[in-house]
Amino acid sequence: MSNERLTIAVQKSGRLSKESMKLLEACGVKFNLHEARLMAHSTSHPVDLLRVRDDDIPGLVMDGVVDLGLVGENVLEEERLERAIKQQANGFTQLRRLDFGFCRLSVAVPKEENYQGLQDLNGKKIATTYPRILESYLKKQGVNARTVMLTGSVEVAPRAGLADAICDLVSTGATLEANGLVEQEVIFRSQVQIIQRAEALSESKQALVDKLLTRLDGVQLAKE
Ligand code: PRP
Ligand code: ZN
Ligand code: MG
Repeated sequence: MSNERLTIAVQKSGRLSKESMKLLEACGVKFNLHEARLMAHSTSHPVDLLRVRDDDIPGLVMDGVVDLGLVGENVLEEERLERAIKQQANGFTQLRRLDFGFCRLSVAVPKEENYQGLQDLNGKKIATTYPRILESYLKKQGVNARTVMLTGSVEVAPRAGLADAICDLVSTGATLEANGLVEQEVIFRSQVQIIQRAEALSESKQALVDKLLTRLDGVQLAKE
């Protein structure tokens, strides 16, 4: 009876986009995608897709702007910590961990450095897109380093003289290799999660989420 539509945020273009769409389709949710559009309406279910930057997805869910989000744990954890510091709402419900988007957040240093261990980072500048995760790690390890926030091209920071080391996502390691950097410390391991906003959904929307999760579990099981 309700004509409310469930909204799901996914990465528009990047590492997670293809797999995210494939997963939704495997769950029977069909879309007609127009590459340039922010919104996509499902042709099979009352579901709207919001296609955005992955970094924006945790905040959209935490603010209740969208109902669900498919997002890497790296950006999720960064946003959770950032909002905790700023005392902003950072609640969400973890629905499932999904078996794609595997990567790690690592500290890497130029290959000509004779890196011996974490203590070598004392007094150094580390460029990263994940300052909160990095700062929390450094604090736990008792390392006194400065973070330099860069939203892109982190891997060129040492050569550009902006930092001594970097802390960035590593998947195959090709980016580090191409930039003469060596992975030294893994500080966070990440994969994709499907998350739901903290505030309760209407009964009809929650029923649809439950149905999709049942299908999702079937799809994941079939892959094992
Ligand atoms: C990450 C990271 C590197 C790359 C590493 O970017 O910033 O650029 O992946 O992958 P590799 O080890 O296989 O070379 P990503 O595209 O995940 O994130 P972004 O688009 O949000 O920067
Ligand atoms: Zn991103
Ligand atoms: Mg990148």
